[in-house]
Amino acid sequence: MSEQTTSAVTESQARRPEVTTVGPPVPAEMENPVFVVENLDFYYGSHQALRGVNMKIGRNEITALIGPSGCGKTTFLRCLNRLNDLIAGTRVRGRIDFAGKPIYDPSLAAIELRRRIGMVFQKPNPFPKSIYDNIAIAPKVNGMKVNMDDLVEECLTRAALWDEVKGKLKASAFSLSGGQQQRLCIARAIAVKPEVILMDEPASALDPLATIRIEDLMSELKKDYTIVVVTHNMQQAARVSDRTAFFNVDDSQGVRTGVLVEMGTTHQIFTSPTDQRTDDYITGRFG
Ligand SMILES: Nc1ncnc2c1ncn2[C@@H]1O[C@H](COP(=O)(O)OP(=O)(O)OP(=O)(O)O)[C@@H](O)[C@H]1O
Ligand SMILES: [Mg+2]
Repeated sequence: MSEQTTSAVTESQARRPEVTTVGPPVPAEMENPVFVVENLDFYYGSHQALRGVNMKIGRNEITALIGPSGCGKTTFLRCLNRLNDLIAGTRVRGRIDFAGKPIYDPSLAAIELRRRIGMVFQKPNPFPKSIYDNIAIAPKVNGMKVNMDDLVEECLTRAALWDEVKGKLKASAFSLSGGQQQRLCIARAIAVKPEVILMDEPASALDPLATIRIEDLMSELKKDYTIVVVTHNMQQAARVSDRTAFFNVDDSQGVRTGVLVEMGTTHQIFTSPTDQRTDDYITGRFG
């Protein structure tokens, strides 16, 4: 190996974020996936945003979706709970099975699917209501037979917010800081007892301390939930996720379309990616 190549390898390794995921490493082979995605194509009108995506998502794992802007991460995330159905002119081809059943089966109720697969958005979006009502409203609408005070306390505790808000549950959710509002949105998402939480850049609007709190919370929640998180922060993917999927924009067929380049354990993707494009992205050479 020439001196030049050796130093290039060393530089590449040095630029890769260190993987420090909490908990035991996941096996390369996934035994019990909660989602199985096969040959997924997605269109906004005539624009194809995703092409040929195949992916399995592991139960009680955190899966990070990474890739440059416009490569279809949000689109893919929103396919998982059929949130894209709400956008006129969109079309899906291929198959997504959730817990062994095809989610694009017309007989399946999308509302029930979205209860089982909750979502947290980039910008905290609490309802213009009290802290208490933000948690209580969806369980009420869903007719859940629970002691509401207990449920509110349980969700806020699980979202690591209880101690900060227990004395002001009737205050407006907007009186909270951005980081607190995002934890409230996570508490709200878990109030209807979902199995999966989809998170689209949940910490990108937060300061570093609030970001770490959200990451700690995700590691804590994966005992009971499956989490799929979109992030632009490579360090964050390397800190919290068990598996990482790298998407990219492909223009080899004359149109710009999102493709899944590779997916593996976060350890594998961040230490020995198989595709040069992945390495270039995680080491900050493009994107
Ligand atoms: N509602 C929409 N209508 C039409 N095209 C859309 C819509 N939402 C996204 N797109 C297009 O689909 C492609 C993928 O967008 P998407 O938002 O999924 O990317 P992303 O990877 O999440 O990007 P970012 O990192 O900037 O959030 C882009 O070309 C985008 O312009
Ligand atoms: Mg996005």
